[in-house]
Amino acid sequence: MDEKTGQRGEGRGERSPTHLKKRGVRGPGSGVRASARPETAPITVTVPEVMAAKGMRRLVMVTATDEPSARLADAAGVDLVLVGDSLAMAALGRADTLSVTMDEMVHHTRAAAAGARRALLVADMPFGSYQTSVADAVRNACRLVGEGGARAVKLEGYRPAEVSAIRAAGVPVVAHLGLTPQSMHAFGGYRVQGRQAEQALVLLGQARELESAGAFLLVLEAIPPALGRAITRAVGVPTVGIGAGPACDGQVLVSADLLGLSAGPLPRFVRRYAELDAVIRTAVEAFAADVRAGAYPADEECYPDPPGLEAVVARCLAEG
Ligand code: KIV
Repeated sequence: MDEKTGQRGEGRGERSPTHLKKRGVRGPGSGVRASARPETAPITVTVPEVMAAKGMRRLVMVTATDEPSARLADAAGVDLVLVGDSLAMAALGRADTLSVTMDEMVHHTRAAAAGARRALLVADMPFGSYQTSVADAVRNACRLVGEGGARAVKLEGYRPAEVSAIRAAGVPVVAHLGLTPQSMHAFGGYRVQGRQAEQALVLLGQARELESAGAFLLVLEAIPPALGRAITRAVGVPTVGIGAGPACDGQVLVSADLLGLSAGPLPRFVRRYAELDAVIRTAVEAFAADVRAGAYPADEECYPDPPGLEAVVARCLAEG
């Protein structure tokens, strides 16, 4: 903190609007174009690295909604940060994901991109942004990359034409099968998918076709573990499960769920790793109590009075 200006100096002057350009830019092969990656730029997780993880190590993905949540996930060492449309509930107080707009997704993705400097940042394509036409799908995927700073996009359901066209535009695509919340009305609610053999085989076939269409990663949500295992074995790209059993190549959770910031009832697959709602409430209650008791701020939390100032202002007040 600068005593004269009262400014908080974060020492992060390198985070200029051009910082995205400074990410590690890897040329063909394993070489790094030295001119494109200054010494200070962070090493980033790339799409080829994520694909190469299959069968080698488990992938970790969490959601983020803004700069702090993306920065902390990044610092925790996750492989992928997802700006999921679940931010509708996690950050915007909505009942479901259906009302999130492209502008909102771009806004939140841009904030998260400022924090996810190493992890691969994936942005969800919101409801209505890719169902209308393949051209809309490509245009909106490009917005999430160009305006939002995402390095890949995710879309729900069996959409091989859209996956292929977005991929052809140079944007890496994550596909999402199983319980795809944007189709909740068609499913009749949030229901486990693929429980019947026929439906399970359809999902297995769709997973293969989405891989052929160019998806580099598959998110599998709320399906029986046996189907999660079968799809993971059947495709050459990694699978990341959320309620899809332990055999997936990685796991993803919504950060608000794992951190204890979301209200119940919670899906069966959620494991709480913290109860941050209680931590935050206790901290704000303590601040409120200190303010009301006159215990905040203390002397050391005030800027020192310059010599003579008190006398000058007292004289000024006395003179009217
Ligand atoms: O929106 C989201 O958070 C997601 C995850 C549940 C994978 O799509």
